[in-house]
Amino acid sequence: MSTTVISNMLEETRQQPETLRRTLERGLRDIRSLELRLKKDPPRLVVIAARGTSDNAAQFGRYLIEITTGIPVSLAAPSIATLYKRGGDRRGVLVIGISQSGESTDTNAVLADGRERGATTLGITNEPASTMAKTAEYTLLVRAGKEKSVAATKTYTGQLMALYLLAAALGGGVRAEQLRQIPDRVDAVLRREAAIAETTERYRFMNGTVIVGRGLNYANALEFGLKLMETCYVLAERFSGADLLHGPIAMVERGFPVFVFAPGGPTWPSISAVLRQLNELKADMLVITGRGNKHARGLGRTIELPPLPAAPGIPDLYTPIPYIIPAQLFAAHLARIKGFDPDRPRTLSKITRTM
Ligand code: F6R
Repeated sequence: MSTTVISNMLEETRQQPETLRRTLERGLRDIRSLELRLKKDPPRLVVIAARGTSDNAAQFGRYLIEITTGIPVSLAAPSIATLYKRGGDRRGVLVIGISQSGESTDTNAVLADGRERGATTLGITNEPASTMAKTAEYTLLVRAGKEKSVAATKTYTGQLMALYLLAAALGGGVRAEQLRQIPDRVDAVLRREAAIAETTERYRFMNGTVIVGRGLNYANALEFGLKLMETCYVLAERFSGADLLHGPIAMVERGFPVFVFAPGGPTWPSISAVLRQLNELKADMLVITGRGNKHARGLGRTIELPPLPAAPGIPDLYTPIPYIIPAQLFAAHLARIKGFDPDRPRTLSKITRTM
């Protein structure tokens, strides 16, 4: 299959090794003043507000910050501030807004409300001149360059990278040398684009699917589903492996397409149990997993993440960015095969303003 056809979504997906390197190296310097502030006033709680893809990054941030620092993280319900006009004391709280454009209205409203109520506020955005950058006390920039495609790709992984920097600034054990390997791991996955594009062929007529992730990769299940819904118009229900077993698995029957994020590490015992159950139901499974995972190979088709010669295995904490790359490529190529333009999904525009 030809992979020379270019959409902005594909082009931007391919830019990620460079955008991630830039976001990491500049971010390591940019975050110092916030780091000093957080050392002086460590937050007792973190609240994150975001929409769409940025909200999926927020889900990742929730797991990352709680796992690495123990600080509880809550995802904001913006209507409490914008529609119910309620809220309480936010002293000792770090309120974070995440927005590619920096113009999502209710995300910015949560930031403004938090600042008024005494919180430390941080905006994570790709746009330095945005309303978000003006609203928050601190800004951490995603240095992805302009994102032309309505379907976000490079800003999602940039937001994840910014969240690693934040977790490190909060005293979480995030290792810079592991972060520096991520762009190379992304590059290694991008080299498999032709094979991934070929895999999409058999899904040409797919209308509905279930996507499963757990822990740090639950955010990727949400994000892959969003990409399939907005660029391929496929109904994609997304679940943690545990939630799938609490009811929705009943809709899975022979040949039903299911995509599963299945890295090794702490989530593997749970995810492998789900894989076994799906296999018994004869679901049509595609598993995104580590290289040479024989167990996964025995249960479904696999996309295996290529190892780096110097660092073959990926510790669980650093899997989410490389693991979303095959899913982004898959969605962009499936859209093309279905005859849709992934850069201009029907009904959508790049900035969505909600209350
Ligand atoms: C998905 C997508 C949208 C945006 C959402 C938030 O690919 O592009 O879901 O993520 O509208 O936009 P920002 O991040 O600009 O606040």
